[in-house]
Amino acid sequence: MRLDLSLFNSKARSLLGLDISSSAVKMVELSGAGHNEYRVERYVIEVLPKDAVVDGIIADVDAVQSGVRSAWKRMGTSVRNVAMALPAAAVISKKIIVQSGLRDDELDDFVTAEAGQHVPFAIDEINLDYQIIGPSASSPGELEVLLVASKKDRVEDRLAIADAVGLKTVVMDVESYAALSAFELVSRQLPYSSGAVVTLLDIGTNAMRLTALRDDTPVYVKEQAFGGGILTQDIARRYGMSYGEAEAAKRSNSLPDDYETELLPQFSDNLALEVARALQFFFTSTQFNKVDHIVLAGGGAAIDGIDKLVAARTQVNTIIANPFAGMMLSDKVRANNLQADAPSLMNACGLALRRFDPS
Ligand SMILES: Nc1ncnc2c1ncn2[C@@H]1O[C@H](COP(=O)(O)OP(=O)(O)OP(=O)(O)O)[C@@H](O)[C@H]1O
Ligand SMILES: [Mg+2]
Repeated sequence: MRLDLSLFNSKARSLLGLDISSSAVKMVELSGAGHNEYRVERYVIEVLPKDAVVDGIIADVDAVQSGVRSAWKRMGTSVRNVAMALPAAAVISKKIIVQSGLRDDELDDFVTAEAGQHVPFAIDEINLDYQIIGPSASSPGELEVLLVASKKDRVEDRLAIADAVGLKTVVMDVESYAALSAFELVSRQLPYSSGAVVTLLDIGTNAMRLTALRDDTPVYVKEQAFGGGILTQDIARRYGMSYGEAEAAKRSNSLPDDYETELLPQFSDNLALEVARALQFFFTSTQFNKVDHIVLAGGGAAIDGIDKLVAARTQVNTIIANPFAGMMLSDKVRANNLQADAPSLMNACGLALRRFDPS
């Protein structure tokens, strides 16, 4: 069997990173600017109505479709190729060992048979893809292959949305992989030390995701229910607004003074406390007992001074993720705006980087 849509490979010359997240449609376009150098051409964050996307499931197709349409219009680009991603929960990946020297069709058959054993969905409900990682370290003459199975319906709803808006999906990635490509650009900004343990905290709308990495390789992932949506709810309640109004006012900094003196500090303290708890949980459930750096990402990292609060609470060096640091900017991109939006653009940035994949 051969796949219609490769999760991995793409020779697309130009493409947009398109992240359909809980709070917004995010698009990023990067171009190459010399050896290993990138330029940010343009980006857009188009806020979605509450619950249009829930736990990575597109609940309101019309709302998401019009969100993607207006995001693309606002981009003002001619590029229609997009790289999108599935939430990790819609994907099962597994490393398998395959004898080397198989023909392509033999490898296809072998992988399909293996998938039947490892994937708890019917084979006709999934898209199957694989990537050869390289020779197996433990058994010579064999290859390590990464098998990835994704739920077809989750792939198809995303494809349909892009299609309806006139965009062409050339890459379907996994959100956590995309985030890691962006993380690599951030981790270079940290002082290098071999064996360093870094925790990436993505503080999104309804969820906070902790990924611990040693030497840039994930060793632990944990998600908990905490995110910026809590603050938006508090704003809505306090000022008698709808959720949508509260979200807009929060993002445009147009709230009464007591927001900055009461609501926001309270939320920020809770956020720092949640981060400290998540670290404790990481320590108690693994053999790790310290981390060298914390990288804050997601909209929660856009709060002024949150890095200092988290550092004070955890006693760990804390930085705010900016995967675009050091990139050139086109004259359509304002450095200040990008700096503030960067932490919530990790997935979109990682997807935009897929343009430069060797293939
Ligand atoms: N400048 C800001 N100050 C405070 N909060 C902000 C700011 N910008 C965005 N947020 C909040 O961050 C949250 C959105 O973050 P983000 O864009 O990372 O989430 P998401 O990717 O949509 O969610 P998820 O990853 O859970 O799907 C929202 O609650 C939003 O209100
Ligand atoms: Mg997100």
